[in-house]
Amino acid sequence: MSSVADHYEKILSPVYAWMTGGADAALAAGRAELEDLDLQLPTGALVVDLGAGFGMHSIPLARAGARVVAIDSSEPLLGELTRLAGDLAIRTVRDDLLSFRGHLTEKPAAILCMGDTLTHLPEHRNVDFLVQEVAEALAPGGKFVVSFRDYSVALLDEKRFIPVRADERRILTCFLEYEEDTVVVHDILHERAGDAWETRVGSYRKLRLSVDRVISSLESFGFETRREPGARGMVRIVGEID
Ligand SMILES: C[S@@+](CC[C@H](N)C(=O)[O-])C[C@H]1O[C@@H](n2cnc3c(N)ncnc32)[C@H](O)[C@@H]1O
Repeated sequence: MSSVADHYEKILSPVYAWMTGGADAALAAGRAELEDLDLQLPTGALVVDLGAGFGMHSIPLARAGARVVAIDSSEPLLGELTRLAGDLAIRTVRDDLLSFRGHLTEKPAAILCMGDTLTHLPEHRNVDFLVQEVAEALAPGGKFVVSFRDYSVALLDEKRFIPVRADERRILTCFLEYEEDTVVVHDILHERAGDAWETRVGSYRKLRLSVDRVISSLESFGFETRREPGARGMVRIVGEID
């Protein structure tokens, strides 16, 4: 079993953009999701993207006029973000997202934690810690948006095998093994090497977060919340603080 950071290093970072349909398609999807969210940010607003990856949301946010702080633990993904962002107003920070406040000198108008990043935190209590930190960090009227996969109901039998993406060069399949509070995600990656296939397998843990639990955490720290369908089968929760 790997840590999240090691799993991204070994398996996911090199194929992450491919996994999401390629960088162009992913950035278009990120932009569509932000338009659907309609955050109503003034030009130049500061936005923090926690677990930014290669910039699926950071880049469209900056293109729409925001100043973005993009935080992630993966150096290759932040490198890809920097390459794709060109001279957009994005500051990349390689750190644990739980330490995001140490990288801010002003209160952001919005903080995002998208694409199932929340479930990557090691323990349930880290979610409450993060929500409290976000509540204290945001400017008045600020918004916190999270999107994540609801693993609270266990998939059974063959439904635990998830075909993520396949093309003529690469096949990524995921197998889920449920524990009480967590789910072990086994990623099986086949890549074409000449006329043979190379296989790499790696595993890491995600939290089984229930939507109600995340909503009640936000509400306990003063957020008014709304729940919406997110992209790619995820759930999205939008919190707004006074
Ligand atoms: C599932 S990806 C989502 C990426 C992006 N937000 C999106 O929607 O495409 C999760 C990202 O969070 C990062 N990550 C996971 N745990 C982290 C942590 N504790 N601190 C910083 N980054 C983390 C990973 O490196 C990865 O880029």
